[in-house]
Amino acid sequence: MKFLVILTLCVAGVLTHCDKAPYIKAAWNQIKHNEVDILYSVFKTYPEIQDKFPQFAGKDLETVKDTAPFAVHATRIVSFMSEIINLLGDPTVQSTIDALLVKMAKDHKARGVTKELFDKFNNGMNNYIKTHAAWDEKTEDAWKVIGDEQRALIYTVLE
Ligand code: HEM
Repeated sequence: MKFLVILTLCVAGVLTHCDKAPYIKAAWNQIKHNEVDILYSVFKTYPEIQDKFPQFAGKDLETVKDTAPFAVHATRIVSFMSEIINLLGDPTVQSTIDALLVKMAKDHKARGVTKELFDKFNNGMNNYIKTHAAWDEKTEDAWKVIGDEQRALIYTVLE
């Protein structure tokens, strides 16, 4: 029954973006097991992000990328994103998504993560997914629209 209600509202265009979730999930599913490669790619492009991690600051990226702490941390970040992406498309859990994003932003603000740094992380992640998953206009649109909304919420905390 819940499914039918959601489907009806979605088809009627009442619910925002539920048509976009499948594109995000399809792209994410192609890269979600590349945890180490994703974090490596972000750190390689933005060493200033690596420097914010006490465990990795000032260390040679080529060496740390093959260590267990690096894999653990990469998995934490990617798992968080998987958790959010799994929830997309079900408007009844939007408040859960928002709460998870706000908590993540608060935890990171306390660590000194700025909006600018987060933007860089976001660029690094976007570049990775665009170059490692099948990418088309609908995927680009879905990733941008939902990403923009989530970032706007995160930035209300980081600013
Ligand atoms: C913008 C750059 C970022 C910096 C500098 C940063 C930094 C950190 C640091 C220092 C920790 C603690 C590491 C430890 O326990 O050893 C951490 C934990 C974590 N980060 Fe980030 N992070 C960033 C972006 C992100 C993003 C974009 C996500 C998710 C999409 C994320 C998700 C997490 C998670 C899930 C944890 C573990 C839970 C926690 O301790 O809060 N981080 N981050």
